[in-house]
Order: sequence, then structure tokens, then C-alpha cells
Amino acid sequence: MNIENIRKDFPILDKKINGRPIVYFDNACVTLKPKQVTEAMRGYYEDYTSCAGRSAHKFGKRVTEEVLKSRKTLQRFVGAKNEKEIVFTRNTTEAINLVANCLNLEKGSAVLNSDKEHNSNLVPWQFLEKRIGIKHEILQGNDDGTFKLDKFEERMSLGNVKLVAMVHISNLDGATNPIKEITKIAHDAGALVLVDAAQAMPHKEIDVRKLNVDFMAFSGHKMLGPSGIGALYAKYHLLDEMSPFMVGGDTVVDTTYHSAQLEKPPEKFEAGLQDYAGIIGFAAAAEYLTKIGKENICKHETSLNRKISEEISSINQLKIIGPKAAEERSGIISFNIGKKNPHDIALMLDSVHNIMIRSGAHCVNSWFNAHNLSGSARASLYLYNTVEETNIFVDSLKKLSNVI
Ligand code: ALA
Repeated sequence: MNIENIRKDFPILDKKINGRPIVYFDNACVTLKPKQVTEAMRGYYEDYTSCAGRSAHKFGKRVTEEVLKSRKTLQRFVGAKNEKEIVFTRNTTEAINLVANCLNLEKGSAVLNSDKEHNSNLVPWQFLEKRIGIKHEILQGNDDGTFKLDKFEERMSLGNVKLVAMVHISNLDGATNPIKEITKIAHDAGALVLVDAAQAMPHKEIDVRKLNVDFMAFSGHKMLGPSGIGALYAKYHLLDEMSPFMVGGDTVVDTTYHSAQLEKPPEKFEAGLQDYAGIIGFAAAAEYLTKIGKENICKHETSLNRKISEEISSINQLKIIGPKAAEERSGIISFNIGKKNPHDIALMLDSVHNIMIRSGAHCVNSWFNAHNLSGSARASLYLYNTVEETNIFVDSLKKLSNVI
């Protein structure tokens, strides 16, 4: 993997603010975009703006073709059997809400979350608990953020769990949940599995058929793609059995004043005119990542993470959240320095050194509340980050830890 060549694809990395280069370490929130993505999107707006699946003219046909091509690209990207198993949504949150609202869960059925779910994979189940009386349960993890497979197996053996809704890689600490093992145990106990792969998809090789998951949700904005576009992968028979919760334009084949004949999946779930430029940009991002190879990306981030983790460990009272080994934290270094306010750390790094990290609860408020913490400072790495940038980060953090 040639970092210099990769960086040339990201014009934003040439930016200087106050005469200094930028160091972008907020990739778990939103990644930067290569020109291959923005050019693909510009192509839609400048060369063939139109509507897919409706207009028979040349632009209309082109958009229809590009959307189908994009769906097939995303199908290959996740290893799905058929492109009809990819439903475009606005993001991971919408994909999870789609499952929550369409799966027809019944009163008393249990939905099982881990203790480290993003609000997008927590609040929909809390709402269903209030609305229809499902039982929403949380499975506690180990103190180092790893998954308790034995406790999970124990809970599943008690029965009544209809859906296991789990994050794959945590955006809080980078720990990976063993989805293949989780899925096998869940299926043996008669439960379905929904995976929040927002943080895993950009970094880890994913094959939904090998994992055998029933649903997988992910977003464009964390994997070099545009924001406002995401997808739900689902086994076709499940999509076929589910009724959509948002209906209207393009979800139906025909209507009378008093009836509607629904489209087949995935169209029956894609109500209204879609974000065609977003879909096309999303597929361009998937192609870009495939070309570089996620294994290479993973190796690169791990080596940077190892270097940072070792070098900042000498900072007084600094504590990294999650597994001890950097290898088990993907590209994420989530930390606190004693009682220092994580927002102060992030603001100082940005204002003095143009180092962009995130601070706060990272939308995993429930975990921080349960651990009596207000949040953490979080650096998150990706394929374009360099050793030089890690040096700037480590030096700056060491300096500022003495003054705030
Ligand atoms: N939840 C996203 C993050 O981790 C936005 O920053």
C-alpha cells in the first residue's frame, strides 16, 4: 500500500490552516473523500441528472443503469448472494430502524444488545419496548471491552430471544465482537442476527454469507463515501416477508384509490426519489477500498495504533479504553487523562496543532453513563494517515498534557 499515492487522491490533505498541515484523526466519525468519489458524484449532477426507474429517456436510462451497477458493487463488497439483498437507506441508523419497524417483533419477545451499542442500535429497541412491549436486554461485556461469549451462550440457552442486535467493531474503543460465533449460537437458539457494521465495514473484510448474518447495516460516510447514504443487507426471504414502514412513490407497482400493489424488494423499502449521486458515490468508495484491499488498510492502521498506544502510555494518568493490545482496537485510541476534560484535550489539539480528533460520548452515552465517565478523547485512524502524523499527535499530546 503506497500511502503517498493514496494521499494524492485526497485533495483536502494538502490543506494548510494557519500555515500548518492538518492531521485528520476523526475517521470513526466521518472519513475524508477521494476524488474518485466526488468525481463520480459530480458526473451524475453534470452529465446525466435524472431519475432512476421511471423516465425512459437517455438520462433516465443512464441513472437506472448506474444505480443497478452501484447496487451490484455493494452486493460484491459485502459478499451478498443477490443485489436485491441491498436496500439503500440514508445511513446505518435508518437501516436499523427499518428492521425495528418491519420485522414484526411481538410483545414479550426479547431483543439482545451488547453493553456498547451506538445510540442507533439502542434507541430503536427502547422505543419498541415502550410501543409494543418487546423485552430489551443488555449483555454486559468484560472490563476490557471484549465480548463475553460464555455469558451470551448462557443467555441464549434460556430462550425467548428473537433478535440479537450487535455492533461488529465498537466506535467507542475499537474492540471487535466475534460475529461469526455469535451468529451460530443465535441461530441455534432460533434468533435472527442484525449487525451494526458502521465501524467494521470501512476497515474489515466482510462476507455476509460466511458470517451468515440475517441483517447488516452500514453507512457511506465512514468508508470514504458521501454522507446521507447507507445500506441494509438482508437475506432476501426476510425482505420478502417484511412489510415496509415507509411507503409511497416507487414502492408500488400500481395503485387504485383504495389499494396498492407493492414492489418486490429492495424497491418496496426505498420510498421516494433516492439520493442517486449518493448511491453512485457510495459504490465508488466501495470500489476504491476494494482496490486498496481492506487487509492492507487494517495492517496499516494497526501499526500506527501500536506506535501511538506505546508512545502515549508514558503520559501521566493516561488510560486507554478497551482492550490492552492495539491489535485488538482496530484504528481507534479512545483515552482519558486523569480527570481532564476530553473536550479541552480535543480543542487544544485542534487550535494549536490542527489535529482533529473527537471528544465526548461518541453516541455511546449509555456505556459512559454506566461507567460514570463523561466521555473520552478519541483518535481514529485510516488508510491515508502517516507515521509523521502520529509523531505530531504524540508530541502535541505530551506537551498539552502538562499544561491543561
Ligand atoms: N458515532 C459516530 C462517531 O463515532 C458519529 O463519531
